[in-house]
Amino acid sequence: MNFQLSEEHLMIQQAARDFAQQELLPGVIERDDAQKFPAEQIKKMGELGFLGMMVDSKYNGSGMDTLSYVLAMEELSKVDASASVVMSVNNSLVCWGLETFGTEEQKEKYLKPLASGEKIGAFCLSEPEAGSDATSQRTTAVDKGDHYLLNGTKNWITNGNSASIYLVIAQTDVDKGHKGINALIVEKGMDGFVVGKKEDKLGIRGSDTHSLMFTDVKVPKENRIGEDGFGFKFAMKTLSGGRIGIASQALGIAAGAYELALKYAQERKAFGKEIIQHQAIAFKLAEMHTEIEAARMLVYKAAWEKDNKINYDLSGAMAKLKASEVAMKTTVEAVQIHGGYGYVKEYHVERLMRDAKITQIYEGTSEIQKIVISRAIANK
Ligand code: CAA
Repeated sequence: MNFQLSEEHLMIQQAARDFAQQELLPGVIERDDAQKFPAEQIKKMGELGFLGMMVDSKYNGSGMDTLSYVLAMEELSKVDASASVVMSVNNSLVCWGLETFGTEEQKEKYLKPLASGEKIGAFCLSEPEAGSDATSQRTTAVDKGDHYLLNGTKNWITNGNSASIYLVIAQTDVDKGHKGINALIVEKGMDGFVVGKKEDKLGIRGSDTHSLMFTDVKVPKENRIGEDGFGFKFAMKTLSGGRIGIASQALGIAAGAYELALKYAQERKAFGKEIIQHQAIAFKLAEMHTEIEAARMLVYKAAWEKDNKINYDLSGAMAKLKASEVAMKTTVEAVQIHGGYGYVKEYHVERLMRDAKITQIYEGTSEIQKIVISRAIANK
């Protein structure tokens, strides 16, 4: 067993760290405040290959492994989780799904511009009345021979307005339950497709989260991913990898808050000494450090399993469950260590605390992860 990162992995980590400091840090507070999508930063991330990290180079991707992706996600999320969620959805949910299950034509037409960052993708599963209970899809895709007629509403869609290509999950045959669900590629601009209201969120405020409305949208048959009825399995398989991406985002948020808290504790004085010299603060930092390292091991192991073609449903769910809990606890403690400074925007930790919360909710809540984990261990 080798816990050391390779030279190549260290280089990717350093490149992401530099990018985060040089390109994401300036203006991150203002973007959060104004709910401004980091458009220029995302464009640069595309140019550097961060938006199609695991995609084969023949489809404009960077051809890297999952561990590289996780390392980059971790570094970017330390600074700007609004930018890293765009990267996570584009890589894990959209590019991976298309590359793994799409036809050659779909890859040529849709994967290539997504992997290069020329276009951004969105993954559309959640609905007003189907969040955790993902099989209860109300959006319908009625089979009309050479096309599907798509009707319904999707909610809380990351990249809702900034995307151009949407993977939409919809019910074709209600009688077949989850086996009657399809995944369709929908393009912005198709007649009857309207981007709805933007959500005013607690955290990741720079990312754009929207509802989407579909009214008699004609989606060509060739835009279906996989066989008829494969849509729910497509969503589940895609989300299994997505959870590794969000776990690495949570890990980055936690590590970013910890690094800020450590630095502050080494500089800030109280009662005649640096506050890290007070056991009350030192013990908090010791616990944060240990918990982050534990989460990191789970996240890297899940990535390693994916890279080694080992089933990662369980490890991905455990990584997300643990890393998101660690992100929440660590960011709350980082605010506490900063005292009054922690409660104001300038010191970054309050934003990280707000950003951390979503990692316990999207791509499967912590409770859903426990369902996945408990079913997996029960069946072992
Ligand atoms: N891989 C392949 N197939 C899977 C699977 C997986 N990981 N998980 C489930 N399935 C299959 C099952 O085998 C079953 O198929 P069969 O009947 O052929 O055996 C089918 O899917 C249905 O599975 P279940 O009976 O287990 O379904 P369920 O109703 O009990 O739900 C669940 C299972 C795990 C709770 C699922 O509903 C779930 O994951 N819910 C959470 C949804 C979610 O994560 N939403 C996030 C929205 S996307 C988002 O947040 C993106 C963003 O913008 C950031």
